[in-house]
Amino acid sequence: MKVVAYSIKPFEKEFLSKANQKKHDITLISNPLSAETTSYAEGKDAVVVFINDDVSAGVIEQLAALGIKYIATRSAGTDHIDREAAGSHGIKIANVPQYSPEAIAEHAVALAFALNRKLIKADEHSHHFNFTNEGLMGFNFNGKTVGLIGLGNTGLAVAAIFNGLGCKVIGYDLNFPEDNKLVEHVSLPYLYANADIISLHLPLNPGTKHIINKSTLTQMKDGVMLINTSRGALINTTDVIEALRSGKVGYLGLDVYEFEKGLFFEDHEKDEMKDQVLEELMRFGNVLITPHQAYLTREALQGIADQTIKNLDLWQQNKCVGKACVCAKNCQVPTILNHS
Ligand code: NAI
Repeated sequence: MKVVAYSIKPFEKEFLSKANQKKHDITLISNPLSAETTSYAEGKDAVVVFINDDVSAGVIEQLAALGIKYIATRSAGTDHIDREAAGSHGIKIANVPQYSPEAIAEHAVALAFALNRKLIKADEHSHHFNFTNEGLMGFNFNGKTVGLIGLGNTGLAVAAIFNGLGCKVIGYDLNFPEDNKLVEHVSLPYLYANADIISLHLPLNPGTKHIINKSTLTQMKDGVMLINTSRGALINTTDVIEALRSGKVGYLGLDVYEFEKGLFFEDHEKDEMKDQVLEELMRFGNVLITPHQAYLTREALQGIADQTIKNLDLWQQNKCVGKACVCAKNCQVPTILNHS
């Protein structure tokens, strides 16, 4: 299959090359997919994208006109793809439904640890030979209540870690995994009222956008720790800034940011105009921001590459990509389904 992969970072190449074994003719480019870069897809069968690529209806229309039949995203989330538009052009879509959920879970917990024990500030002080303990006091996670919203692959991996720390783990999910022994099933109002630490592990969709807002923040404990490694727009950023100002939110750990598109994954240090909202967030000493790197472990990158190539393999054989299929409508596959 002839493929162009957009937004490729240098560190991804070895993993894709190992997974591909020269089976597909893949052009790797660093440019993001946008209305200006669709021409790279000319003569290809498939495009491979990442989360901040523009896969909106207009771009999909251009890709369809160029003869693109498949879009594979190197991510679990698919909120960046207009699936209806792809469906209307008969373009099939696949994602990487599960790749090392531990990678994302460990990063969520790392944010919580760093915030609690003020590791960034402590390290900065130490580098200046300031070894005082002022302003570095934290709390024990042991005995605290952790509230997890979303208990799919990542949420359950986070639950396992906090269980190991001796926390009480409560959780809410539309499809709560009743067979699990790690998390107590609670309602959202109960979770907001009782959790000392709240971590979000949800996809972004119309039902979850701004799930954390003025009204839900009001229901939380004073000084709550909020962690988001899922998608930025799960949190209404303006409302959370207000909650940081009032002390309602005591700690905020973000690996994702509502307006990260066109900003994260690139170096913007020399930009004259910086994102004002992000600058405001960064002025708080109890906010920790990482640049959407929770997926960034060797194991996760290989898992992403392997599943992406597997999706291309199956499409080439005219087979269904199984759980990786995120087409707007169920695929009509003429051959026997071969679920991956
Ligand atoms: P998953 O699909 O395994 O789990 C998501 C869970 O959310 C499901 O159990 C589902 O029932 C639940 N859910 C969906 N809508 C809901 C609602 N309205 N209310 C309550 N529960 C709801 O997904 P996974 O692997 O746990 O990942 C979660 C999200 O994390 C992904 O959608 C993606 O956006 C993000 N992500 C971020 C990464 C990063 O590098 N920062 C890496 C990978 C994923």
